[in-house]
Amino acid sequence: MKVLTVFGTRPEAIKMAPLVKLLSRTPGLEHRSCSTGQHRQMLDQVLDFFEITPDYDLDVMQPGQNLTDLTCRVLQGMREVLDNFRPDWVLVHGDTTTCMATSLAAFYAGVKVGHVEAGLRTGNLQSPFPEEANRLITDRLASAYFAPTQHNADNLLRENIDGTRIVLTGNTVIDALLWAKEKVTGFSERVPATVQEVFRNNRRVLLVTGHRRENFGDGFKQICEAVRTLAVRFPKLAIVYPVHLNPNVQQPVQQYLTDIPNVYLTAPLEYPDFVYAMKHSWVILTDSGGVQEEAPSLGKPVLVMRDTTERPEALEAGTVQLVGTDGQRIVDRIEELWESEDAYKQMATGTNPYGDGEASGRIISFLKYSG
Ligand code: UD1
Ligand code: UDP
Repeated sequence: MKVLTVFGTRPEAIKMAPLVKLLSRTPGLEHRSCSTGQHRQMLDQVLDFFEITPDYDLDVMQPGQNLTDLTCRVLQGMREVLDNFRPDWVLVHGDTTTCMATSLAAFYAGVKVGHVEAGLRTGNLQSPFPEEANRLITDRLASAYFAPTQHNADNLLRENIDGTRIVLTGNTVIDALLWAKEKVTGFSERVPATVQEVFRNNRRVLLVTGHRRENFGDGFKQICEAVRTLAVRFPKLAIVYPVHLNPNVQQPVQQYLTDIPNVYLTAPLEYPDFVYAMKHSWVILTDSGGVQEEAPSLGKPVLVMRDTTERPEALEAGTVQLVGTDGQRIVDRIEELWESEDAYKQMATGTNPYGDGEASGRIISFLKYSG
């Protein structure tokens, strides 16, 4: 059996890395990996940490890329890879343009698609944009569905997906997190000294990340204003913000958040450094999907700057709350957590609804027995 794994962005690489590593050690199948290069620096950071060298690299990233051009470049590049390797299965991940365009390329080439992290839904095509559409398209084209949770499997069943093709696996994000946690004992020297210092000084650290397309423009302006307000109202709070490289994020953040003494802007942190930062932060403020899954198992409260989430499990467990991008709501919630130990404790409970770290093994077992 020939299996091709495909990834292109930072989170796909993190979540596919354990699977890629396990596939390359599995006897009886031929495995190759392909990076579309939808991200460049942020992807390469992850591949270096997990010691993965892709067999193919489409290198599609262009500064400020738009969805149409990106989709075309992935679609065309994948055609050649599929012609060259002729796999039986293509494994894609999640909800990115890499995932959707690769699934379409595989469908055109008559190759079966296995969707890792299948079945996540908000039910709103505009949020997250374009990810909700990417998930739906990928799940129309797939032949195997690796659902992280029962909730995700139920979503697929409701869409009349054949239950024998759905496998409940847990999320590979936990496979990756357990692997990283083992290795991480402190920050690497690449983390700026000022950032290392705030964590060493036992200050309360608010860790911030953000990149959602539907928040570009007004949403990001409001997020930055909320961060500014927090910095002024809580001078003892340290706000550490590794800024995503998307120019639509860089621009407002650099405009509104430089030169505030307790706001520490950094380049994106390498994955192990980010895991260490999450572990030692007080609260996390984010619009990230992956961070919503990782932080609960580290016992960290997460405020999500979105109106919807496709990850209701941690919401139900109480460690994650939706705060949207309304500045006042963000500030009010942080204030409550700052002042009330009870409110903080209610959210800071270690819970892990996303798996046991064995998701990659379950995916490979299914492939082996399905033929
Ligand atoms: C992409 C995914 C999103 C995912 C996110 C994870 C799509 C449509 N979006 O969003 O689902 O949650 O990645 O971070 O698939 N850039 C760099 N270097 C990098 C990475 C990005 O310079 O290493 C800049 C480039 O100018 C690039 C831009 O960011 O054009 C946007 O990258 P893109 O992948 O299109 O969008 P993201 O916002 O990163
Ligand atoms: N992450 C990282 N460095 C950072 C910020 C995030 O390695 O500076 C990791 C984080 O641990 C998680 C993933 O990147 O695994 C989330 O990526 P992102 O938020 O870009 O995408 P999403 O999960 O929203 O698709």
